[in-house]
Order: sequence, then structure tokens, then C-alpha cells
Amino acid sequence: MTLQEKLEELRRRHAQAEAGGGEERRARQHADGKLSARERLELLFDEGTFEEIDKLVEHRSQEFGMADQRIPGDGVVTGFGRVNGRPAYAFAQDFTIFGGSLSEANAAKICKVMDLAMKLGVPLIGLNDSGGARIQEGVASLAGYADIFLRNTLASGVIPQISAIMGPCAGGAVYSPAITDFTLMVENSSYMFVTGPDVIKTVMHEDVTKEQLGGPMTHNATSGVAHFISRDDPDCLALIRELLSFIPQNNREDPPRAESGDPIDRRDESLQTIVPVESDKPYDIKDIVHRIVDEGYFLEVHEHFAKNIVVGFARLGGASVGIVANQPAVLAGCLDINASVKGARFVRFCDAFNIPLVTFEDVPGFLPGTQQEFGGIIRHGAKLLYAFAEATVPKITLITRKAYGGAYCVMSSKHLRTDFNFAYPTAEIAVMGPEGAVNIVYRRELQKADNPEKLRREKIEEFRTRFANPYIAAERGWVDAIIEPRDTRPKLIAALQLLETKRDTLPPKKHGNIPL
Ligand code: HXC
Repeated sequence: MTLQEKLEELRRRHAQAEAGGGEERRARQHADGKLSARERLELLFDEGTFEEIDKLVEHRSQEFGMADQRIPGDGVVTGFGRVNGRPAYAFAQDFTIFGGSLSEANAAKICKVMDLAMKLGVPLIGLNDSGGARIQEGVASLAGYADIFLRNTLASGVIPQISAIMGPCAGGAVYSPAITDFTLMVENSSYMFVTGPDVIKTVMHEDVTKEQLGGPMTHNATSGVAHFISRDDPDCLALIRELLSFIPQNNREDPPRAESGDPIDRRDESLQTIVPVESDKPYDIKDIVHRIVDEGYFLEVHEHFAKNIVVGFARLGGASVGIVANQPAVLAGCLDINASVKGARFVRFCDAFNIPLVTFEDVPGFLPGTQQEFGGIIRHGAKLLYAFAEATVPKITLITRKAYGGAYCVMSSKHLRTDFNFAYPTAEIAVMGPEGAVNIVYRRELQKADNPEKLRREKIEEFRTRFANPYIAAERGWVDAIIEPRDTRPKLIAALQLLETKRDTLPPKKHGNIPL
């Protein structure tokens, strides 16, 4: 063979790999509103930086006529590139080849990039679009899944792992995204479920559509399995790039800084009146967050799930921070099962990746009710407490209004080794609200009183004056400073800058036993 012929052979093989499952299947992918695997990777990475590896890998399966159906690449495109100038590894399942199904050979390709990402300490991004285990390969395919799950688990807390669901993701395949840090889903083209509508119909006699069962809104709003919903593929890939801009490459690095023109000493007079003095009047905590953070930019995570707590990323003075905030506009900001789990997972992510936590607190307590108790609010609420207590990153808490009962302790209180605890003058820190307190403490007196309503009002006022303020906590040093709302940004940034050298540890142990 001449050199020219050898080059042509290489080009022919590359072209065959790039043709994937053929023109017809690619057209169908586009008609379904989906980009191809390679188009997705081009958008995910900085222009022209994606380098494919294992482009010529083929399956070795002989059965069910597979011996003469070999397509180079075998249904997954893997490689590395740069996102915002920083390296990352990725795999993108190619639905045009055997439905992107997982074979022994393509699982090995995915495992290879996972191992490389770990060795290099760089993020791993998975673009999922697959019919699941390659049916023709049986247990070899299942083994491939388990190999991936093991790597997802070992990489957890070491490198950031992001999963985008851009097509089907069914059966055991869902457990890889579930172990990763963030899951994004695309409107109209993605779904996730362990057992599909047909099996549910047969076993449970329930009728449900694919969309209802495992569509993007189901997992963003109801199950909490997914953290983000995107309009289409480009939107989803842009969001992954945005998300990575807040996150370090691995657990040994600090998050990247992004300086902005927003002055660190910027005061905001509109904050002075944003928290209503009437403690039962709702307001939107996001209005406060937006006014404080750099350029008002807040990337909300899990926006549609457990809206009574708000979590997400922002920057303060150029530094990346994780925001956790009770939301008085929803369920009065009460903590319930979903809010606790949502908050705990986010806190643990930030702690694992050296992202300081800024907590905004306005919480009347845990949500009462049999549904919550039977559902295990004790166990789930403990997760949030555990996560805040365990976290060794810089921690700052600002009590804007209510900090009642167990929820006071849980929401990154001083007692959980939080570094700076601030409060607004509108803060109320007590075991419970004045009404509840009076009903319990003065029950007998109220029963005997000639005018119980008058007595109740007097006692409530007495309690409010004595306890519904931040001063008792401040007298004991559990609140470090009571600040004017307009000064919030400069105060938070000064605290964060001071905490840059913070080092805190946990006692030596194999791992804790968070109440799962
Ligand atoms: C091999 C598969 C496949 C699979 C799809 N294909 N899924 N090949 N193994 N699992 C092939 C199809 O034969 C077809 O090939 C092409 O991919 C496109 O599939 P269509 O059915 O034409 O596409 P569509 O109508 O869009 O339907 C997509 C689908 C459906 C809903 C995903 O294909 C489907 O139900 N697939 C099987 C899903 C499944 O049960 N998987 C196993 C789950 S259990 P041609 O040549 O015609 O283009 C599992 C266990 C994991 O994954 C365990 C981990 C522990």
C-alpha cells in the first residue's frame, strides 16, 4: 500500500465513523429536534477544541446478526476539549447507532474517559441519548453499566460530574446520571424512568404517558431527580458551560474567580425596606439575593423543585458562592422533606468542591402534618442539619427574619461551626412564634381568665418584645453582628475575603453515616 493509499484508508474509516447510523437515521434525529452526538460536543466545548478518541472502536458481538453490523465508534462519541478555556472529558451517546445502546465495547470507551478525567482531575460530562442496555449483548452490557456506576461513585466528590438527558434514558441506565452531581433535561425530547409506561400498565394497571412518567417537568418539579430544564439542545449545552464556570476542576482546587465591574462596597438602599416588618407577610428571598450578588446574577439550581428553599450559584466580589435560602413566598419558607433533601445535596456539593456557602434564613420551622411525619421528615430534615454541620468550607449565615425552633439550629447556625452569623434588625430568633408560645406557656391562665383574648394579646405582645428579635442571640455571641440591610453586600464580601484562608477538618473516619 502506498502512503497515499494508507492516508485514504484512514480517511475512509474516519468518514465511516462520522456517518454514524446513516443519513436516514441522522435526519430522523434532527426531525425529532435533536442534534447529533458530534454536533452536541461541538457546542459543549470551546470552538475547535474537541478531540475525539476511540473513534474506531467496534463491538465484538456475534449473535443476532450483529457480526455483520459494525459501525466504528459503536454508538458513543468520547473525547476531551475545553470549556471556558479549562479541560474536560465528555461522552455523547449516538442514538443513530443501535439506538445509542450500551455495549461492552462502548461502555469501555465511557470508562476510559471517566478514568482519564479522574487521573487528570477534570470534570466529566455525559450526554445521554440511549435505548439502554444493548439487548443483543445481554450480561456483557449490564456489566458495562455496573462498571460505569462504580466509576461514577468513586469520582463523586473528586471531580464534578454532569449529566444531560437529551433523549431516552431508561431502566438501570438512569442510575449513572442519578449518582452524578447535576442532571439537565431537554424539553420535548428527554425522559427518564426505571420502568416504562408499558410495564406499569401490565403490572400496576396504571395508564401514564412517557412525558407524565418521566418527562423533564416531572423530574424537575415532582421527583427532584433533575436539576435543570432546557428548551433545546443548544440551550442545554450552554447551561452546562455556565454551570461549570462556578465550579473548580476538582476537589483540590478553588473555584475559578470572575471579576466584574460591580463594586465590592456597593450598598443598596432598597434593601432597607425589603423585609416586611409584619412577620406573617411574604416576600421573595430572590429579590434580596439578586440585589446583593455580583451584577445581580444568580444561577438557580433545582428551580422548580421544593420552591420553599432556594439554592444556586452566584459570585460575591468575583468569588463563586453557593446560596441556600429559605423562601418566605412559598409555604412561608417552612422546611419540609423535599426542601431538606434539596438543600442538603446542594450543601454537600459545595462543601466537596470548596465553594463557600452563604445562607439566607427566614424559616418559621418544619412543616407540620402526618404526611411529613409519615414520610420521614425526622430522617430527611436531619440530612440538612448533617450537611451544614459537616461542611468545612467558609460558611456565612444571614437571618433576615424568622429563625424559629429546630430550623434555627439547622440553617447553618453558629452552633454548627458557621463562621459569620449576621442578622437584620427584623430577625426573630426563638423556640417558636409568640402566638404558639403563649398558647402553651399560658394555657392554664388562659382557660381561667375572665377575658382570655385580652390576656392572650398582652402575653403575645410581651413575648414578641422579649424574644422576637435578634438581640438575645447577639448577647450570647450566636449572632456576630446585626447589620443594616443596605450594607449586606459589603459585609458579606468582607467576611468571605477574610475566610479565604479558612481550614477546618472532620475527625478521621472512613465516612460518616448521613441519615439517607
Ligand atoms: C439494541 C436498540 C435498543 C437496545 C433501541 N435500539 N434500543 N438496539 N438495544 N436497547 C435500536 C432499535 O432497534 C432501532 O434500530 C434504533 O435503536 C432506534 O430505535 P427505535 O425503537 O426505532 O426508536 P424510537 O421509536 O425512538 O424508540 C426509542 C426507544 C425504543 C423507546 C428507546 O427503542 C426502546 O424501547 N428500546 C428498548 C428500551 C429498553 O427496553 N432497553 C433496555 C432497558 S433495561 P434500527 O436499526 O431499526 O434503527 C436497561 C438495563 C440497564 O437498560 C441495566 C443497568 C443496570
